[in-house]
Amino acid sequence: MSEISLKKVYSGKVRDLYEIDSRRMLMVASDRLSAFDVILDNPIPGKGEILTQISNFWFKKLAHIMPNHFTGDTVYNVLPEHEAKAIEKRAVVVKKLTPVKVEAIVRGYLAGSGWKDYQKNGSVCGIKLPEGMKEAQQLPEVIFAPSTKAAVGDHDENISFEECERIIGKELAAEVRAKAIQLYTEAAEYAKSRGIIICDTKFEFGLDENGTLTLMDEVLTPDSSRFWPADQYQVGTNPPSFDKQFVRDWLEQSGWNKKAPAPEVPSDVIQKTVDKYLEALNLLTEES
Ligand SMILES: Nc1ncnc2c1ncn2[C@@H]1O[C@H](COP(=O)(O)OP(=O)(O)O)[C@@H](O)[C@H]1O
Ligand SMILES: [Mg+2]
Repeated sequence: MSEISLKKVYSGKVRDLYEIDSRRMLMVASDRLSAFDVILDNPIPGKGEILTQISNFWFKKLAHIMPNHFTGDTVYNVLPEHEAKAIEKRAVVVKKLTPVKVEAIVRGYLAGSGWKDYQKNGSVCGIKLPEGMKEAQQLPEVIFAPSTKAAVGDHDENISFEECERIIGKELAAEVRAKAIQLYTEAAEYAKSRGIIICDTKFEFGLDENGTLTLMDEVLTPDSSRFWPADQYQVGTNPPSFDKQFVRDWLEQSGWNKKAPAPEVPSDVIQKTVDKYLEALNLLTEES
């Protein structure tokens, strides 16, 4: 990727953070793809730009629910013009927040680790569910299913709401849960009208200098969520997806043990994944 004349302070699985000053950072989305918390060797061309556009769309659409991490600056305000031009579609200027130390996962349907949890325990994240539910079935109500924030290389771990309260405090836990459910519910309703079921998603929050809970990171992208095409949705089967699940399914059948390094992903799987990301962006954001 192109050079950026700011100090890099963090390199995550997908995004890199650069310091602008004591209050602001530049967040740049790469084309890296992580699956099962491992970064694949093959980049997905254009993915960082698509993810950033999807995220920006949601930040704006959901801004009435709570504050977000945007400062209002563009990349042109903080970088020399040629640098800004090269990354403008994949970068945003954000407030430097103090991260809330849990991942706020919200589930509307039974899939992935939620489905596994249910099969084993009849519950998801300690929340008891009716008997006889099927894979991919819509949950009787939206569930807040927090997890720990793992360091690079580790897996996030599902935790109970009580554990979440112990980590971040009762009051903050209640606020995070309420906001996460509200964000998901509103977004899922909109996405459904565009032909996308949002099965589940993960939000990240931070606290600003006044201690105000603020939405940060990325929002409702195919990377942080399971998107399903509504017209192919069928209870009882794992629906095909727009997104990473496609790569995940390929990796699952490859027999990989889910420890780095991941096997090389074939180029047709890469291309289909690019197409899926683009399709999601277009479905969500195109004027009707
Ligand atoms: N406004 C913000 N303030 C502080 N940290 C943030 C902000 N927005 C995002 N982050 C953090 O930046 C990182 C984004 O990079 P990412 O590739 O998602 O990393 P990770 O591998 O940790 O998920 C995440 O660790 C996320 O928590
Ligand atoms: Mg992340």
